[in-house]
Amino acid sequence: MDLQKTFVRTVDVARNETELTLSIHQVEHGDVGCVVWDAALVLLKYLATPSGRKYVQNKCVIELGAGTGVVGLSADIVGASKVILTDLPHILPLIDHNIKENTNILAHSKAEISGSTLRWGNTTDIKNILRKHLIDCVLISDCVYYEDGLDNLIETIIIILNSNPSATVLCSYEKRDTGNKIELLNKFLTALQDELNVVFVPFSEMDEIYRSDDINIIVVTKS
Ligand SMILES: C[S@@+](CC[C@H](N)C(=O)[O-])C[C@H]1O[C@@H](n2cnc3c(N)ncnc32)[C@H](O)[C@@H]1O
Repeated sequence: MDLQKTFVRTVDVARNETELTLSIHQVEHGDVGCVVWDAALVLLKYLATPSGRKYVQNKCVIELGAGTGVVGLSADIVGASKVILTDLPHILPLIDHNIKENTNILAHSKAEISGSTLRWGNTTDIKNILRKHLIDCVLISDCVYYEDGLDNLIETIIIILNSNPSATVLCSYEKRDTGNKIELLNKFLTALQDELNVVFVPFSEMDEIYRSDDINIIVVTKS
């Protein structure tokens, strides 16, 4: 990953009455983790609403498949007490870069923020994190997009919720109709609904501008 060749996307996030601007570096040539996706924007803007804020304020938050880290960085600004941004090992340099590039903005929050490798379904990676942190909230945006990762992502969600039965998962996804995407999404939702409590965030509770008919946010809990 060439961090010399990035292009910046600015993202405004509300902290109480103040708007702070994150500068998110995206990589010109890379895979899907290198840019900010629309489902991320919908989720991060929801975190700053009265409905979304309660899930992250003063909470220990982990983001799975964080990519640029934009959602977790926003959770930090909104008021999380601790944020762990996770992804595959080759994406970690971009996450660390975005933490570093936003140090001044993040200083407003005093939260602890770090990047860490977490490969879905890899019990060593998951246990390493759970040994050190009691997770209250799991953030996931646009991670339901390929067959091979699906079961591992579901397993990771379940392991984290078992480690703290009062934790909450907020997951945003775009409803795509190409290839097997509809089938994949239905498989994901059915698997979660079989084991866990799944509630759809009402459209009216999302940010008035950053919401879209083709992007959902679900709240997943153990009970
Ligand atoms: C479509 S991108 C979404 C990135 C970011 N969440 C966003 O919405 O802007 C999917 C992310 O999932 C990560 N990912 C894919 N498979 C993974 C796995 N097995 N373990 C951990 N992360 C994975 C990718 O590296 C990528 O960052």
